[in-house]
Amino acid sequence: MDTLRIVGGNRLNGAIDISCAKNAVLPLMIASLLTEEEVTLENVPKLRDVTTLRKILEHHGVDCRTGTEDIEPTKTRNRISRSLTLSAPTITSNVAPYELVSKMRASFWVISPLLARCGEARVSLPGGCAIGTRPVNFITDSLERLGAEVRIDGGYVVAKTLKGLRGTAIDMPKPSVGTTHSIMMAATLARGETTIKNAAQEPEIMDLANCLNSMGAKIEGAGTSTIRIYGVERLRGTTHRVMPDRIEAGTYAMAAAITGGDLLLRRVPEELLSGVIEVLRMAGADIECTSDSIRVTCDKTELIPCDITTAPFPGFPTDLQAQFTAMMTQAEGSSLITESIFENRFMHVSELCRLGAKITLKGQVAKVEGKTHLVGAPVMATDLRASVSLILAALVSEGTTTISRVYHLDRGFEDLEYKLSRCGAIIERITDSEIE
Ligand code: EPZ
Repeated sequence: MDTLRIVGGNRLNGAIDISCAKNAVLPLMIASLLTEEEVTLENVPKLRDVTTLRKILEHHGVDCRTGTEDIEPTKTRNRISRSLTLSAPTITSNVAPYELVSKMRASFWVISPLLARCGEARVSLPGGCAIGTRPVNFITDSLERLGAEVRIDGGYVVAKTLKGLRGTAIDMPKPSVGTTHSIMMAATLARGETTIKNAAQEPEIMDLANCLNSMGAKIEGAGTSTIRIYGVERLRGTTHRVMPDRIEAGTYAMAAAITGGDLLLRRVPEELLSGVIEVLRMAGADIECTSDSIRVTCDKTELIPCDITTAPFPGFPTDLQAQFTAMMTQAEGSSLITESIFENRFMHVSELCRLGAKITLKGQVAKVEGKTHLVGAPVMATDLRASVSLILAALVSEGTTTISRVYHLDRGFEDLEYKLSRCGAIIERITDSEIE
């Protein structure tokens, strides 16, 4: 397993081209199951989750082809990302086995298009993960509301519909991104109208709706709390450019703030960081936005403590909570970080404390005492976003930090060490072979 080695102390200065979003490209790839025609996604990021999902879709009979080959980044030029063309003229299997689904939880969402397309789907329950139990009851309840017969059989969710899905009204108990994606995909091919109330409003929902509409679906209201889907007979192919990754952008914005640097984040519009920009300004960062870039500078010797509570979009994203916790170790005073979405999303705290952070946990609240002098040490990544919070802390730690289990990072951050080192970070990847 690869390790990252970081020497702290440098301010970050430069420009970073934000990649396209992991949490947008995954549902978009799954939506290709809804049509026999080709769906081409442009600017697909090189991420482990994309590779894993590609294997899962190929298991169902999807032909996946990369377009322009991926051209690795150089010192002077960023990666030229590839396009990915997916086509599923026939579904060769409507069973998603545990050994595949457990590798990448979002693959559970294939249950919707498989059910809509084949009339039956058998998908392994994904099980929990480091950040929580991650139930899927909202999804299975919604499929029942759409007319499917759903049962659990030997760890699998078996969903069946003899007469096809029919539109209905669904009132979500609370906003759920995966459930909103799943209902939208299933309802595009249901008979009649489906309404989702209390729908998730994340931008990735809008990106999927825009792609589905370009395939001939009739979806209104995506990005608001009420979404209407009018079922159609079939969907056609399309070409769709994946939206930028707001979590990657927010992460690098915090890297600029924590190191007292100056970073220009390109290819990302301000509205994607709703709920984040105002917090970063409160913490002492200066932020200037144009139509497709965000410049973050912070010349303060210490940051200002801020209390935040994670919330569904447009609130402060749970996927940036770990990074903000690391950032608040450099604020002068106490900050309260409340995690309201997942029940176990403070795995980064113990590792941050190994670097000298002063953080105490009480239920779903982390109290961060700053400003603390951090000292580099060996630490371990536990999940995707916790891993990158360790990198932010390492950038301002005295001496060297080594981060093991870096495969967590490779799931969701494209060319991370390349992007940071080009802006002045001392960061290198030590591969297994080098360690032996
Ligand atoms: C998506 O997960 C994202 N993953 C997560 O990002 C993100 O943290 C999360 O949305 C919240 O924004 C992808 O898009 C691939 P939810 P999802 O359903 O859809 C509860 C990352 O690091 N719930 O919005 O699984 C659930 O337990 C990942 O990129 C049920 O109770 O999250 C949670 O408390 C981590 N029953 C809340 O809803 C259900 O059936 C919101 O979860 C479904 C969800």
